[in-house]
Amino acid sequence: MDKEYWTTERLNRLYKDWPAETIDNLKAKIAKSDWRMGYHIQTETGLLNDPNGFSYFNGQWHLFYQAFPFGGIHGLKSWTHLVSDDLVHWSNTHKPMVPDNEYDRHGCYSGSAINVDDKLFLMYTGNVWEKMNEVRHPYQVGAWMDKENNITKLDQPLIANPPKGVTGHFRDPQVIKHGDYYYAFLGAQTTDKQGEIVVYRSNHVDRDWEFYSKLDIGNDNLGYMAECPNLLFVDGHPVLIFCPQGADKDSFSYDNVHPNAYIIADDINWDTMKLVNPSKMRQLDEGFDFYATQGLNAPDGRALISAWLGLPDTTYPSDDEGWEGGLSLVRELRVVDGNLVQQPVQETKSLFLDTESTFNGMELPKQSLIEFDVNHDSDNQIAITSGNTHLVIDIDNDCQKLTLHRKDVENDGKDETRSIRLNDGKINNCHLYFDNTVFELFINDGYQTMTGFFFHEDTHLNLNWTDVEDIKVTKLANINAPETK
Ligand code: FRU
Repeated sequence: MDKEYWTTERLNRLYKDWPAETIDNLKAKIAKSDWRMGYHIQTETGLLNDPNGFSYFNGQWHLFYQAFPFGGIHGLKSWTHLVSDDLVHWSNTHKPMVPDNEYDRHGCYSGSAINVDDKLFLMYTGNVWEKMNEVRHPYQVGAWMDKENNITKLDQPLIANPPKGVTGHFRDPQVIKHGDYYYAFLGAQTTDKQGEIVVYRSNHVDRDWEFYSKLDIGNDNLGYMAECPNLLFVDGHPVLIFCPQGADKDSFSYDNVHPNAYIIADDINWDTMKLVNPSKMRQLDEGFDFYATQGLNAPDGRALISAWLGLPDTTYPSDDEGWEGGLSLVRELRVVDGNLVQQPVQETKSLFLDTESTFNGMELPKQSLIEFDVNHDSDNQIAITSGNTHLVIDIDNDCQKLTLHRKDVENDGKDETRSIRLNDGKINNCHLYFDNTVFELFINDGYQTMTGFFFHEDTHLNLNWTDVEDIKVTKLANINAPETK
């Protein structure tokens, strides 16, 4: 990243003021990249972070993401808009929602969408710096989208100020309907620097929003700021997903700079805004790069999520190529015996091509699914290597601990690890969705997942293993290749 180039002025420049050749130049540079993904959502140019506005509207799936199209850096954020018929093949409407007024001048930050009559209502945070980089004023704002995907912002904010006792860190409204009310769940920081989730409500989605309550999640502590709260209902259980920045590591262990967590409860009391019998906080994904997950209770009954493959306050090798970040496969959530289970939606199978002839040392197709069973009689290992870089899965002898090793071109080739332990059973099987520089590992059919980037050194990737059983490699389609777009 060129620090000198990225002045405050460039990071905050309105989109209309950028010369057209900036994007053309970035496209030309990115076209030469060896690190692009083949079936994950990625930007055409620039940076992507949180998924936003995940919804089903007008006979199609809609998914937006936080974007800065002018470089691989967190600049002025807009919403890029994608649509899909099957949650797998997405196309860009090229009708983004960009910051352009006094209530969102420094960024259309994260938010959600809800169907109201025959329109889609978007509720998001308008970020405004009253003194650049010093005094932040968040507005919670709204917009209507029609069936032609045209977005019209409301003139006035829905919530003009944070509630009493909350700092300028007040954002990311998730709007859902229950009974006669619309409820908005927002991430917040109290003036004594505690993370909190606060709830507003209204009878009319586009006006009259009032502070309702703080969300009572039980005993857990939400660090200094809880970003991106989402309440979903999964197999009858409320599941709260959020990002508790700075959460106390003594009671909740995580290795990433910021965690993405969840709590499962038996119920929610809408009068007291209390989760009934909440579990302790757990990590939603135990890999390297996974954050800001957004959920949707879809009209077909499924509970779906999409997550940002990336982390805040982190740089990536692709930044220098002018792009950063991706979105996870859309996953379906289930609650099984009190566990949250995640699986790629069944539509993902439309990516499957041929089963490869699978042998030790084979060249791994850049887009592939590697499936195997664990041999419980010995240690198991599978390794993807490329030059001096590797991604290795180690499963230890008692089959209860899995360690993922990543040595990529970042961090001076240091070996980084993430481990999981299953306390109530053995590790039986793994499904690794591999997409050149991104992987999503589903352990025991999704009881645990580990996701991240792997910026390898070489253009070739090799697959080796010891002692795993029934290993099978299926080639997956590269639907992002220019000729198939
Ligand atoms: C989470 C987040 C949100 C914010 C958005 C800005 O990654 O910091 O809290 O709305 O990103 O892009």
